[in-house]
Amino acid sequence: MTGRRAFLRGALAAGATGAAGLAAGSAAGSAAKGAAHTGAPAARGRAFHGEHQAGVLEAPARRTIVASFDVIADGRAELTELLRALTERARILTSGGPPEEAGIAAPPADSGVLGPDAPGAGLMVTVGAGASLFDDRFGLAARKPPGLLRMRTFPHDALEAGWCHGDLSVQLSADDEDTVVHALRDITRHSRGAAQLRWRISGFSSPPRPGGTPRNLMGFKDGTANPDASDAREMDRLVWLSERDLCGGTTPHAPADRPCGAAGGTYAAIRLIRMLVEFWDRVGLPEQEQMLGRARDTGAPLDGVHETDEPRYAEDPVGEVIPLTSHIRRANPRTPGSAGSRILRRAFNYDRGMDGAGDLDMGLIFTAYQRDLRRQFEAVQDRLADEPLTDYVRPFGGGYFLVFPGVRDASDFLGRGLIT
Ligand code: HEM
Repeated sequence: MTGRRAFLRGALAAGATGAAGLAAGSAAGSAAKGAAHTGAPAARGRAFHGEHQAGVLEAPARRTIVASFDVIADGRAELTELLRALTERARILTSGGPPEEAGIAAPPADSGVLGPDAPGAGLMVTVGAGASLFDDRFGLAARKPPGLLRMRTFPHDALEAGWCHGDLSVQLSADDEDTVVHALRDITRHSRGAAQLRWRISGFSSPPRPGGTPRNLMGFKDGTANPDASDAREMDRLVWLSERDLCGGTTPHAPADRPCGAAGGTYAAIRLIRMLVEFWDRVGLPEQEQMLGRARDTGAPLDGVHETDEPRYAEDPVGEVIPLTSHIRRANPRTPGSAGSRILRRAFNYDRGMDGAGDLDMGLIFTAYQRDLRRQFEAVQDRLADEPLTDYVRPFGGGYFLVFPGVRDASDFLGRGLIT
């Protein structure tokens, strides 16, 4: 109870001082939208207000934190305050600037990790909701987007309960570690009493070596054959939710008790996948390449020369060059039937040190964005069941989340269309 009162006081304080961050946030908003598609680090993440949240279409920043929270707010009004507070903090953190004045005896308003005048530093904050947010606690069952599922256990998964699911997801991405850590500190502080961390993991994306797409910790370029995130029509087709997806048609106003207000959002499938790297490093290079279907050094498909060459499966029907069981061929066989299951993938590496047995604990924070979890992510995942790569990886966590639509303007807040 004390915690919740403290949260509400904090949220009110944030509301009063939040205007400081507004001007910069909205001014940069639409201008950065195009820049986001180029993935140019200097411009990345400046957009706060817009149709969609930042952090989905952009090329991965160097650093990320993915966090999942259990909401402990009491009732819809407190949940609304929590989402308003999260929005306010995201807006302020994204634009940067000096923190509000604290009283002389009060704890400082900011952790100080980024100094007295925090730079926005290209921070992107991406917030989503898990299916559990729509249970009976907040009276939101009728607003649950129909495609928001609870992540199921796939064959070969070794899911650990403490690393799965959650009511809210928050992804923080920027090019510097201190920027994302500062943002996490700020967000946990301002949501204290209303949301409790359930799990969190830090990740990184490597610089292109020597060029092209960054590599994962198996040494392979990861993200090559993604759909083109700068193609707005393609993203509307594959990634962004429309009113038709959510409530069966175009309506001038989102009717109460229907999930139309999630239009402009997307479903994220997050999978935390440990790589058994000691085991992997003992496999010969040709076998590694056959498992993935691409050359390790260049990233080219095994029947090609350059990273961006298209594999020609029609000329190799029995898989002599690119095995039928290889990861890329299973994931996307490029048949008319598989065209509808394309996903937008974002890969970050993680390194959690070592486990109790002295083995390296590292792997992939895999995220796929799509309009339909069942027909896209799960269809791909089902095709990957029993691929040879399963012997070298161990999915242990993650969850499915509805990434809220973007915050339109200074009066809007994350999730407003679903909870008001
Ligand atoms: C640790 C686990 C994984 C590793 C090491 C891995 C690695 C790779 C690599 C190296 C590529 C080729 C380069 C590229 O196009 O990005 C690739 C492609 C791909 N992966 Fe994964 N991946 C993993 C998990 C997954 C999962 C869980 C899914 C989805 C269920 C997935 C779906 C795909 C898809 C759709 C492609 C593109 C295929 C194409 O269009 O040619 N991957 N992955």
